[in-house]
Amino acid sequence: MARNTIRFVCQNCGAQYPRWSGRCDQCGEWNTLVEEDTAAAPVSGAARKARSGRPVQLSDLAGGDDQPPRVATGIAELDRVTGGGLVRGSALLVGGDPGIGKSTLLLQAAAQLARTGKRVVYVSGEEAIDQVRLRAQRLDLADTPVALAAETNVENILATLEDGPASDLVVIDSIQTLWTDAIESAPGTVSQVRASAQTLIRHAKRTGASVVLVGHVTKDGQIAGPRVVEHMVDAVLYFEGDGAHQFRVLRAVKNRFGPTDEIGVFEMTGAGLAEVPNPSALFLGDRDARAPGTAVFAGMEGTRPILVEIQALVAPTTLATPRRAVVGWDSSRLAMVLAVLDAHCGLKLGAQDVYLNVAGGLKIVEPAADLAVAAALVSSMARAALPADAVYFGEVSLSGAVRPVGHDTARLKEAEKLGFARAVVPVQSKRDAAPALSLSSVDTLAGLVAMIAVDGPRET
Ligand code: TYD
Ligand code: MG
Repeated sequence: MARNTIRFVCQNCGAQYPRWSGRCDQCGEWNTLVEEDTAAAPVSGAARKARSGRPVQLSDLAGGDDQPPRVATGIAELDRVTGGGLVRGSALLVGGDPGIGKSTLLLQAAAQLARTGKRVVYVSGEEAIDQVRLRAQRLDLADTPVALAAETNVENILATLEDGPASDLVVIDSIQTLWTDAIESAPGTVSQVRASAQTLIRHAKRTGASVVLVGHVTKDGQIAGPRVVEHMVDAVLYFEGDGAHQFRVLRAVKNRFGPTDEIGVFEMTGAGLAEVPNPSALFLGDRDARAPGTAVFAGMEGTRPILVEIQALVAPTTLATPRRAVVGWDSSRLAMVLAVLDAHCGLKLGAQDVYLNVAGGLKIVEPAADLAVAAALVSSMARAALPADAVYFGEVSLSGAVRPVGHDTARLKEAEKLGFARAVVPVQSKRDAAPALSLSSVDTLAGLVAMIAVDGPRET
């Protein structure tokens, strides 16, 4: 008797159950179980034998290239994030909110590559050929030899790809629209997405094409359903940004062939995505340097220094529990800095609301931002603007000490390049890094508070 292959599959995490329940025990999400037929096509014994791979000895493999073969897209910010270009025979997942610009970015990359004579296939499962053509026209790319297909069936897509010369790049927009004949369940379900992705990844490995899968992200920040795809592909990039700002950040969260801490910065313009080679100038663009409560943080994203403005507002609360609101930084990190200011610097923040914002919508993850955050908070409390030509970086420990952080040379050089004259830094920072910059070292957070008290108040 055939095994019953009907399963209830969580659309959030992919866990399978023999019967339905309201809540997934694995990930705790409610109403995510959907009935799916998870049967796989049967494989004959002979076919299995023909397929099985013999192990090879690692030492026999020595002497090959130590760099994977890559195809640079010509879009420098994209190449930076992937670690130098798309790797042949690899699969890349590009995730992001709907409307953030994934299709635009990939169409631009596809067109760039096609212009250099590479064979590029763009498969759109969401838009009709005409819509893709209109977009290409808007981007002034309508004359590029990109092969377009509007198709959602994986078997048809494979047939198209295998008919004709081998492709260098295949873009699938999006993975959620695909379905394969091998599985009964509806498109967009975990089983379909997983099976479709698997087939395309196999195609990439077999033919040496780079396959880029586009995936939409759900409101809670996960690639819808296909979180299961994340571990199948070689690299995962997220395209972030918010509706209020023009610029977009491409961030690697997984990369088998390169670093994961690089970001690519783009600006959405009327004619597509433009690269932003100098993000600091963009993030500091409309800064009001004379306002209390703002400090410029000299940060690092991967190997690139980026200056951003940190804004803080400290105001007496009307609530029983004061409010702490953070945009672009870690809220528990803010709680820690507030606790240190309270315990070691004598600043009473218990009856104050605290708001913190990283200007421009960038998300900062570095602890090196502690000192800049503290400076912005103290400046807001004291109603004293910080010197307009100063940058800040340094990590604050629970004891109130200001600790050195990495890459101080790169940070200081970037500040110097953008016309800043001073830097407030941890004690051990390199003095000779940026000769035109005057360095003020602080060894404790109390030292920073004293420095701001001496400088201020300068409200105008
Ligand atoms: P799109 O690439 O379709 O997003 P996604 O594929 O991630 O869903 O981008 C759509 C948005 O970008 C849309 O709101 C319009 C805007 N846009 C521009 O501002 N300029 C352009 O040149 C293009 C093509 C799109
Ligand atoms: Mg799209």
